Amino acid sequence: MQGMRNDKMVFDINEFLQAISNVLDVIETDIFGVPTNHSKRLACVTNRLAHALNFSTDMKYDLAALSILHDNGASLKILHDNLRGDAKAKQNIIESSKEHCRIGESNIISFPFLTSPKNVILYHHEKLNGMGYPRGLGADQLDFNSRLLACLDIYQALGEIRPYREAMTHDESIKIMRRMVEDGLIDPEITEDIAQQLKTNN
Ligand SMILES: [Fe+2]
Ligand SMILES: [Fe+2]
Repeated sequence: MQGMRNDKMVFDINEFLQAISNVLDVIETDIFGVPTNHSKRLACVTNRLAHALNFSTDMKYDLAALSILHDNGASLKILHDNLRGDAKAKQNIIESSKEHCRIGESNIISFPFLTSPKNVILYHHEKLNGMGYPRGLGADQLDFNSRLLACLDIYQALGEIRPYREAMTHDESIKIMRRMVEDGLIDPEITEDIAQQLKTNN
């Protein structure tokens, strides 16, 4: 009896990630007005880059999980507000987007990561020159994983269609990212890794 109970309680983390990414897709489609599969596609580009750079299997797994979960704070807050009948939920979260990093980080604090990544979701909108959010941290406070996800998130977003613009090609996205490097916003080496390793995508 006990064994049956335990069998039913086995929790497959991959199935959980698949399920939550499906939910996030639906909500993100609502946010952007068009289907983007933003979180899933970010996980794919993250995995491609991590593989090309010979990251460990555990690191690849964690970075893919973090990619799927990175915007969960925004998406789940909108879902929560919509369920409560708050018609302005979408506008509210866009106006208070700085909150999604904090909410998202606290939502995944007990997630069973393999490599103990710290604050990657909290910091994924920080900029090296201190102009990001939510904390306005500088380059010396942002570790490799946070810089990596920040760069990949920008790259992935530029490559997605938005209601107000077409999806950008790899070269167009890299051109914009190199300008961001010149402005001291994002990591130069990671940007060049993305430029070289992901260019066959388009
Ligand atoms: Fe975000
Ligand atoms: Fe994102």
